[in-house]
Amino acid sequence: MQPGLLLAFDDERALAEALAAALGVPMARVVRHHFPDGETKLRLPPALPAELLLLRGLHHPNEKLVELLITAPAARALGARRIVLVSPYLAYMRQDMAFTPGEAVSQRHIAALLASQFDGVITVDPHLHRIHALDEVMPGCPNRALTAAPLLGEWVARQVPGALLLGPDEESMQWVAAAGRAHGLDHAVCHKQRFGDHDVRVALPAISLAGRAVVLMDDVASTGRTLQEAATAALGAGAASVDVVVTHALFVGDALPRLRAAGVRHVWSSDAVPHETSVVLIYPLLAGAVRAF
Ligand code: R5P
Repeated sequence: MQPGLLLAFDDERALAEALAAALGVPMARVVRHHFPDGETKLRLPPALPAELLLLRGLHHPNEKLVELLITAPAARALGARRIVLVSPYLAYMRQDMAFTPGEAVSQRHIAALLASQFDGVITVDPHLHRIHALDEVMPGCPNRALTAAPLLGEWVARQVPGALLLGPDEESMQWVAAAGRAHGLDHAVCHKQRFGDHDVRVALPAISLAGRAVVLMDDVASTGRTLQEAATAALGAGAASVDVVVTHALFVGDALPRLRAAGVRHVWSSDAVPHETSVVLIYPLLAGAVRAF
């Protein structure tokens, strides 16, 4: 795809500018106004090219989903014929089954909503656990699920040579294996049980952690409780150090101070979600995917 313009929002400006520069395309922004009653007004450039790239990650998802529901048809009314959404963080991907009868399978419905609005979707490390490809929930919508795991692995290999990459749960095997294989790092995963939003228990794998430099790696950190439990267990098992690296740094509430209090040394993330811990830049990954789309 050779877009005529990259459209982005001001809170993702750094990533948007880097991506636009890498692609050699102009960038424009969607201007937002929040009315006192909570509604949103958006202003787009008055004339848009036929091929449009829209950057919008979905951290703080509910507000941003509404923005997308307004932006996509507005862009078409202003001239866009093909709109590809680059959403470095796709929200709602963890709700991939009805855990209790009657519970909405949000992953399926949000993915279908996006597929109905866009001509293509590019994302990074969507939480695919019980489904294996976005095609299963976005039928008919061309998509690309990229992974930042090798980039995170490269960062870890430089910062902590000889690190043991430890995923906090079984789902994280896909990310620790990709990062470990790419950079010759040992990897393993824990077993996790979740009892509530802030209540998880993590059991270590049956390998020795004594004296190892452990780097906990996951796709997303939200409350940070998963990583906190894994860090406490790893240090309790004699790990020499515990660092954390994630693709999507949500880190809500007191997540970061809790991790530090648990003994975590460094917390690193990609800039798929812009955050104070972002050190691994994903614009080259996104640019390659856009060119090939
Ligand atoms: C789910 O399995 C994800 O991979 C993460 O492990 C999870 O979302 C982390 O959540 P929290 O930080 O709230 O424990």
